[in-house]
Amino acid sequence: MTRFAKSNNNIYQLVYVSSATKPLELNDIHAIEKVSNINNEKVGVTGVLTYCDCKFMQFLEGQKSNVDNIFSIIRKDRRHHSIDVLRQDFINERQFIDWHMKYTNVDDIHDDHGFLCHKIFDIQSHRLGVYEHALESITILMAFKNSCSEKIYYKR
Ligand SMILES: Cc1cc2nc3c(=O)[nH]c(=O)nc-3n(C[C@H](O)[C@H](O)[C@H](O)COP(=O)(O)O)c2cc1C
Repeated sequence: MTRFAKSNNNIYQLVYVSSATKPLELNDIHAIEKVSNINNEKVGVTGVLTYCDCKFMQFLEGQKSNVDNIFSIIRKDRRHHSIDVLRQDFINERQFIDWHMKYTNVDDIHDDHGFLCHKIFDIQSHRLGVYEHALESITILMAFKNSCSEKIYYKR
């Protein structure tokens, strides 16, 4: 695990949602998480990946050129399609500093299991108020992250 300075004005964050080409098993997601951890660590990219009801949402953060490079690979991956970028912006500090890529089960994120799924689905189907939805989703994910103890964090 590479440690970063949390605050760095050059941190770029990209958030997207996409649809899985076919339903994925947990093993498939963990395979994505594993390769992502290896590749992202090499280039100092951190983030989080959620998946439910055939929808992905992923946050990528790091130096812009590195995030762009990783994202251009992800875009070409045939396991998903209909990729909608919700947010791409410079941020004051990394939000997922400890995670090169962490898969989070939506059930762990919110008591109401379907809540975030529906948010993600709403984002894709309506494309209205996308920014508000994205912010809300970020808030939920951050709350989840902050509530993670080391034990839960490495739970498999
Ligand atoms: C939804 C989704 C998210 C992904 N996220 C990442 C990622 O953050 N980093 C990464 O290196 N690969 C990610 N991948 C996998 C890449 O598309 C690609 O398969 C992988 O980078 C190939 O790595 P390799 O050349 O080392 O085998 C993701 C794939 C999917 C479907």
